[in-house]
Amino acid sequence: MNGTELAERSAVSRAKRRIGHKLGPWAVFFKGFIQHPVMVGSIIPSSRFTINRMLARTDWDRCKLFVEYGPGVGTFCQPVLDRLRPDGALIVIDTNPLYIDYLNRTIHDPRFTAVLGSAADVEKIVKERGHDGADYVLSGLPFSTLPDGVGPAIVDATHRVLNTGGAFLVYQFSAAARDFMAKRFDRIDSDFEPLNVLPCKMFWGHKD
Ligand SMILES: C[S@@+](CC[C@H](N)C(=O)[O-])C[C@H]1O[C@@H](n2cnc3c(N)ncnc32)[C@H](O)[C@@H]1O
Repeated sequence: MNGTELAERSAVSRAKRRIGHKLGPWAVFFKGFIQHPVMVGSIIPSSRFTINRMLARTDWDRCKLFVEYGPGVGTFCQPVLDRLRPDGALIVIDTNPLYIDYLNRTIHDPRFTAVLGSAADVEKIVKERGHDGADYVLSGLPFSTLPDGVGPAIVDATHRVLNTGGAFLVYQFSAAARDFMAKRFDRIDSDFEPLNVLPCKMFWGHKD
């Protein structure tokens, strides 16, 4: 290979690295979708409009432990960490090792823990990390496509793990989660974010 060919090849690989860096999280998210379409349930991460609307009702001063189910490539993680108090903690739980590995490589914050596991095991996961309960639990899980029985089991476990005064924050394309939530949470608030692919329903289940 002569000098011109070498220079061309290194320019191409620099351009590929730049594009790869820009597309990084989206490419990882899409790869996870191709591997497990039913578990991921969406081809692109949530929009910033969804993130802001979903997190706006949280009382950050009283939040010591925030738990997230199905973080994917961490669309919500940095916005949560930006709002979380310095002595707070964020535990995220995802069944996909590709996503957990990506989060561990990209988020370096002592308040952050990424756990490979199922949201159904939230009580054990929270206890093992030294917490008695969670103040808020956020879910991006595709409730309507989860295997039979998994959705209700996750809602039951979430209700048990929440501290009194806490809330279960759920965003989804369908209202399937609301039906499960209604069996455990007496008070549920709703909202809607049109600027998301697809437009997104939002629910807050309060543990009064
Ligand atoms: C729609 S994606 C969430 C995307 C991300 N939160 C966002 O806002 O862009 C759903 C995620 O739920 C995860 N998941 C599916 N079933 C799960 C379970 N039982 N426990 C924890 N995570 C699960 C998938 O691996 C995927 O990362």
